Amino acid sequence: MLSKRMEKAINDQIKWEYYSAYLYLSLAAYFQNLGLPGFANWMEVQVQEELFHGTKMFRYVLEKGGKVQLQGIEAPLHAWKSPLDAFEYSLKHEYQVTKRINDLVDLAQKEKDHASAIFLQWFVTEQVEEEANFGDTVSKLKLVGDGGGLFMLDRELAARVYVPPAATAA
Ligand SMILES: [Fe+2]
Ligand SMILES: [Fe+2]
Repeated sequence: MLSKRMEKAINDQIKWEYYSAYLYLSLAAYFQNLGLPGFANWMEVQVQEELFHGTKMFRYVLEKGGKVQLQGIEAPLHAWKSPLDAFEYSLKHEYQVTKRINDLVDLAQKEKDHASAIFLQWFVTEQVEEEANFGDTVSKLKLVGDGGGLFMLDRELAARVYVPPAATAA
């Protein structure tokens, strides 16, 4: 059984994960229009990750016999000042997601909901990776500036492929 409070909190987070997918899809379009298809590819892979996160939570609520109530998703931004601005915006978004996941863990602990606490550990670890991924590209963008280095970085980001997490982790 999920408490009503936990059920509501995970439902809220499902929306946030799908909003993240929507935000990164908007960023993929932004980068494609800028002529940076590698950056666009990187964002499209991130969209897949976010859909996976949202669906993982969706399945958990159902598995616990809870009720899923999908919420409306706000429109994300569609323009940024520069690739660096876009990645800094994304990194800030991931910091917010990390805070939300930590709050969920706090709630699980407060309610002595061990199953949810263990379930959420996967997301705690995932957020370490997410912040590192976005932070890494922010650092590289600061190094290359607007010059030709951007095209080299674009080629690097073109190589990212979506790897679905192993069944045991899912
Ligand atoms: Fe996520
Ligand atoms: Fe990830």
